[in-house]
Amino acid sequence: ESADIGVIGIGVMGANLARNLARHGHDVAIVDVDPAKCTELITEHGDEGTFIPAADHDQFVQSLRGPRVAIILVPAGDPTEMVIDAMAERMDSGDILVDGGNSFYLDTLARADRLAPTGINFIDTGVSGGAEGALTGPSLMPGGSTEVYERVGPMFESIAARVDGHPCCTHVGPTGSGHFVKMVHNGIEYADMQLISEAYDLLRNAVGLTVPEIRDVFDAWRSTELDSFLIDITTEVLGHTDADTGRPFVDVVHDVAGSKGTGAWSVQQALSLGVPVPAISAATTARALSGAEAQRHSVQALDLPAPVPVPMDDRESWTEAIRQALLASKICAYAQGFHEIATASHEQEWDIDLAELALIWRGGCIIRARFLDHIADALRDEPSLPMLLAAPWFTEHITSTLPQWRRVVALAANSGVATPAFATSLGYLDSLRAGRMPTALIQAQRDHFGSHTYRRTDREGVFHTRWEEDDRPEETWS
Ligand code: 6PG
Repeated sequence: ESADIGVIGIGVMGANLARNLARHGHDVAIVDVDPAKCTELITEHGDEGTFIPAADHDQFVQSLRGPRVAIILVPAGDPTEMVIDAMAERMDSGDILVDGGNSFYLDTLARADRLAPTGINFIDTGVSGGAEGALTGPSLMPGGSTEVYERVGPMFESIAARVDGHPCCTHVGPTGSGHFVKMVHNGIEYADMQLISEAYDLLRNAVGLTVPEIRDVFDAWRSTELDSFLIDITTEVLGHTDADTGRPFVDVVHDVAGSKGTGAWSVQQALSLGVPVPAISAATTARALSGAEAQRHSVQALDLPAPVPVPMDDRESWTEAIRQALLASKICAYAQGFHEIATASHEQEWDIDLAELALIWRGGCIIRARFLDHIADALRDEPSLPMLLAAPWFTEHITSTLPQWRRVVALAANSGVATPAFATSLGYLDSLRAGRMPTALIQAQRDHFGSHTYRRTDREGVFHTRWEEDDRPEETWS
């Protein structure tokens, strides 16, 4: 009975988080289905702090000082479910169980309900930053009751990343909100990665730069508004040469992109909430498309007209145009993610402080960037801002990049380079700015074939037109 906190699941994330906790002076109980993982951790890093290995769940629970705090870091889904059941049997009322995995927030809500009669408190915590972040400072997004957060918060904040002295950890809101915002973080992550990949593809296949040249372009972009962890690692990846073949590493990597579900959930939840997230959706779809190998092969076998090459007059100006298109599209993707969180927060009465969320995403997590400072500023100035693009910094950048953004989307279409996220982001902007959308025609079609009714621009009320009659009389629908 001496550990301050316990970690269940000593995989890469769990081991690194346990080490991070130990390095900050917390005594950490550790347990894994494979006890060798615990032994290994202690052999290799035992000198970093106090680790108390447990042979099984019983011993683990006994080694924790009450009220106990245990963090689960096993894969989302069944493994998490099994650990929660095991802990529910062993922990006591007042103890705190933290799920640090990428669990689906509706599963989280159901689990919290299931635990409620036991008196065990449940905290859902988004943990971002990958293995390195878990060790040196992740971004943490915990959800749960305020009283329970007050007990674990200081420990979490002690191990989180820091930007300008501000810990990248905040009490997001009630149970479920932590995993919800982590899900959307990942949706934004998917969009950002897709946009960067489209920029790379354009630079290579429309502008005609070589991989080392593109590496240099990304390197230069690090000193612009695009500066971010994802641009850093892109530069590193593009600078890496495969040892076996001597070719650029990116050329030997199989192009089917994996996904563990959070991107798709972000899109599904956005659609359920009626929130448009086209960039996140395009990014998720692009990964699915990369995996549709049979369909890709069958289309590759067709003798389709090749795009007429666009003459590359000025590579430098096209490179700058692509940078601007990337920035503008990125702004749209983040606007969509924040819209999704704001809507869920409103519907679920989570009362999430969006500005604070932007602040804790500046460090530790995968989408970390100074760019998030501008989002935080915008939301501090106007907490109920309906649309990020309307905040001054964003309006300014959308305005200045728009002409080049259009050129780039046209270049992509003319060159036959697929840029679904660039293009759909521009479509998002143009739809938002249109005084009238062609959805008026859709409403008329719906009324025509299904009597789905419509509202009019000139009168209040709900109407239906009797399309089957010659003079098409309109009736008021009650
Ligand atoms: C993070 C990452 C992390 C993980 C994702 C990747 O924030 O640290 O998002 O959670 O890398 O699960 O997701 P995919 O496997 O779906 O790309």
